[in-house]
Formats: sequence, C-alpha cells, structure tokens
Amino acid sequence: MFDSGFGGLTVARALIDLLPDEDLVYVGDTGRYPYGSKPLDDVRGYARELAWSLVDDYGAKAVVVACNTATAAGLDELRAELPVPVIDVIEPGARSLVTTTRTGRVGVIGTVGTISSGAYLHAVARTGAPVHLASAACPGFVEFVERGRTTGDEVTVLAERLLAPLRDAGVDALLLGCTHYPFLARTISDVMGPEVTLVSSADETAFAAHTVLNDLGLLRPPGERPEGGRHRWVSSGDIEWFRMLGGRLLGPELDTTEPWRDGGTVAP
Ligand code: DGL
Repeated sequence: MFDSGFGGLTVARALIDLLPDEDLVYVGDTGRYPYGSKPLDDVRGYARELAWSLVDDYGAKAVVVACNTATAAGLDELRAELPVPVIDVIEPGARSLVTTTRTGRVGVIGTVGTISSGAYLHAVARTGAPVHLASAACPGFVEFVERGRTTGDEVTVLAERLLAPLRDAGVDALLLGCTHYPFLARTISDVMGPEVTLVSSADETAFAAHTVLNDLGLLRPPGERPEGGRHRWVSSGDIEWFRMLGGRLLGPELDTTEPWRDGGTVAP
C-alpha cells in the first residue's frame, strides 16, 4: 500500500486489524508530499511509480492505494496496467457515507486535487443513493498531520474556517475524504458538532481488500505463519522522522523504517 505520507497509516491500521496474517509493505512518499496541491498528472506519475515498485521490488500480490488524491488521479490507469488487483479508498468511502446518513444530506472533505477532480461526486452518484453531497477542500490539514500537529488552536482555527460551508449545508454525515484526516478527527468533530457523524474510509477499504483477496483465492491461510504477518515501513523522505511520528500515529507495529528504492528487492 502507499500514500503521500502518514495518512495511509489510518488504512494500514484497519488492514492489520482485519487481516493479521497478511504481510504488509507500506510506502509513505514523504519525500514528495503533499499530493493534494500538485497537478493530477504529477500525482498520477508518482502513483504509477509507487504501485509498480510495490509489485516489482516488494512482490505485492495486491496494491491498496491508501490515498484519495492518488486514486482520483490515477486509479483507472493503475487498474489497467498492474498485474495485481488494485483496491482504492474512494469507492469504499462513498459506500460508507451513503449508508451512514439518516437525512440524505452528506458532505465530503478532501485535498484540492481530490475535491476538484469530482471523483466523489461520481462515486456517490454510482451508489444510486438519493443523497445531496456538499464538498469542501481543506488545504493545510495534511501539512499539520505531517508535522505531527493533530490538535491545538491553530488546527481548530483552520478547521472552523474550512468546515463552515459544510456546517451551513446541514450535513449529518461527513466523509473524511483524505486518509490523513482521521488523525484530526477530534478537532473536526468538535467543530462540526455531535449531531454530525464522521465517516472514514479505512474500515470499509480493509473490508474491500479482504473481499478481493478472498474472491481471488489470495488470502494467506490462517495459522500458516503463527507469528502473523510481517510489516515493512518504507519512506521516500526522512526515515527517522517516519519511524518516530509513524509509531505514534499507527502504534507499536511501526518500529523500524527503511528508505524507498534502497534494498527493496527482497519480498517480506
Ligand atoms: N492522504 C492523501 C489523500 O488521501 C493526500 C495527502 C496529500 O495531500 O499529500 O488524499
């Protein structure tokens, strides 16, 4: 799986919990983050490079695109060219959103790239659910997470400004359409109020991965390796920072990190 940085760890947590026997390689492209403010063509190029690296360098049997912006930019190309199944976060997120709402007024927040691509409008429309979708881009949220700042006055002030249109729209369910945002859930929830349910795509994406692997007969048989799956944490940026902040955000499984494209030839 890959993301621009630490955000995909929200999906990694759900995958490890649901599929504890599976090996996992996570690449955080912290050397090139943020994706959300870059042209989608550039992000598509990064996504292809990372996905092919997971297959060729690390022997991945499936790739999870744990990044909404990369999904919006390049999911179709990845699915067309990769020799393994590709699981995204946008379809699962849209599904969760429309099943969570009671009033039919729903919202999504994401990066500038994701929101301006219209990917969520299409994904929600494809569910066929009779909902009204409001959306807002939240530039700045990802940068706070990447610096390890997940609470505090500055985050709250920014959240109040960026989330105002969604409060005005009266949504009762808000999809965190960027994998970094669940790390800001405390603040986002305080700003939106208790009547708004926050929806993250992480669990639904893990369910989707389980379904795909199961349907294709790719699941590792339970108990085949008694100690469970092995995890590798790879970063294109500062690997020491990735270990420190990543361990804090994900938990004890993230205890060592390695540089991307350096010794990535041995499958887990
Ligand atoms: N976590 C990524 C996403 O879900 C984007 C972060 C970024 O802007 O780099 O869209």
